[in-house]
Amino acid sequence: MSSYDIKKIIDLLLENNNNFDKACINQIIDCLNFNELLLRALDSVNEGISFCDKDGYLIYANKSCCNIIGTSKEEILGKKIDSFSKDKPLLSGILEMKKSIIDIEYFLRFKEKNVQLVNSGYPVFNDKKEIIGAIDIFRSIERTRKLTSTMAGYQAFFNFDHIMGESRRVKENIKLAKVFAKSSENILIIGESGTGKELFAQAIHNYSSRKNKPFIALNCANFQSELIDSELFGYEEGAFTGAKKGGKLGKFELAHGGTLFLDELAEMQIHIQAKLLRVLETMCISRIGGSRPIKVDVRIIAATNRNLEELVEQGKFRRDLYYRLKVLYIEIPPLREREKDVLLLAAYFIKKFNDKIRKNIRGLSNEAKKMMLEYSWPGNIRELENMLSRAIYICDGDYITDTNLELAGLKESKYKRFLKNEVVKIDKKVLVDTLEQTGGNKKRTSELLGVSRPTLYKLLKEYKV
Ligand SMILES: Nc1ncnc2c1ncn2[C@@H]1O[C@H](COP(=O)(O)OP(=O)(O)O)[C@@H](O)[C@H]1O
Ligand SMILES: [Mg+2]
Repeated sequence: MSSYDIKKIIDLLLENNNNFDKACINQIIDCLNFNELLLRALDSVNEGISFCDKDGYLIYANKSCCNIIGTSKEEILGKKIDSFSKDKPLLSGILEMKKSIIDIEYFLRFKEKNVQLVNSGYPVFNDKKEIIGAIDIFRSIERTRKLTSTMAGYQAFFNFDHIMGESRRVKENIKLAKVFAKSSENILIIGESGTGKELFAQAIHNYSSRKNKPFIALNCANFQSELIDSELFGYEEGAFTGAKKGGKLGKFELAHGGTLFLDELAEMQIHIQAKLLRVLETMCISRIGGSRPIKVDVRIIAATNRNLEELVEQGKFRRDLYYRLKVLYIEIPPLREREKDVLLLAAYFIKKFNDKIRKNIRGLSNEAKKMMLEYSWPGNIRELENMLSRAIYICDGDYITDTNLELAGLKESKYKRFLKNEVVKIDKKVLVDTLEQTGGNKKRTSELLGVSRPTLYKLLKEYKV
């Protein structure tokens, strides 16, 4: 006989009438102890647990159930479960269907409060296979989001110590990024492909108060219009009222509390831009096919290698969104404008790859250094990194030579010459007109002309403007 078999204990009591023997008393004590343990155990777990009898009256709710929903045992016990919420409770569904429902997303409206849960419900049968009640076990969606993000690796790995650079602009960028990280504003990072935009975004996240929350990256160029919609906002698929079956969490919900990195922002279609703007204004999303607003607390770090201002002029990017995101922005210079950093980065990557593949290459030969400094690095640091990872394999001496670099794919590019010519093509009149248009603002002028600021200064000097 198990100690919680109350019926048998009662029978024993009745049989023995007033004549309790020691064994019987011990069994009663065991039974009471077990009951206490059971109740305390259920109150110790983080999941909400409640159950109802076969008529749908709530007969048990643990502590977490009350905490998650925001109520007390006194308020709900003994009441009909249908009376708590306008939506049909999961337990009613279980009693009706006599089947379990596992890990379903469930929206409970309780006293004007919206609670988003992940819920499982099970019917309870007696020995005769008659239903005698139903039990549900649930937790707030936060834990599921957290678990998803941990398991899917939604984390930022890099911090500011990983950003190499001695050139003035990079040092300034790092200083600026650290200040921005501590604010709660959205941030725009502008720079050519491979300049380290994502690296900066991760470092900012890890330097911010959101560092222990998810960092989620989404490349806007990778999705077609409808897909990016559901990637960002998720979708709902109705099962029965209240419960959603087969829906999907969007990146906004997954990034809750953390950072959403929107890479290649300029590729986002204009109607999605409108949605994004609304989310930034209201901090609420609604899933596709869903009607309820879901509150989200997400910081956006957006990155682009395009001239957004130009796209705004062409009507391809929303001006209001641009201004909203451009409150705090960082412009990362291309590698060819931070020549000081080329050899520094090369040394950094050589060390990294040496460690990785257990080689002991001591550096670059003088010719190799010269070649690297002359190259224009259209693919920026990503190109430098990839090229060196090949050169390390190719190199069979102590130092990487210019021949090794050539074999690794480094050629003096036409790109550099093309760029030089391009610069000369900006004629004096255009330069002066643009300067006038911007009221002498060099930064705006360089942006409008699509040249870097050092190049602009060179031109100003050349034309004696
Ligand atoms: N300043 C830097 N120091 C060290 N590694 C860098 C630096 N900038 C970029 N990288 C590396 O270069 C590669 C490309 O950077 P990434 O952030 O993906 O560029 P982007 O997002 O601008 O295309 C990554 O492997 C990154 O770690
Ligand atoms: Mg990138």
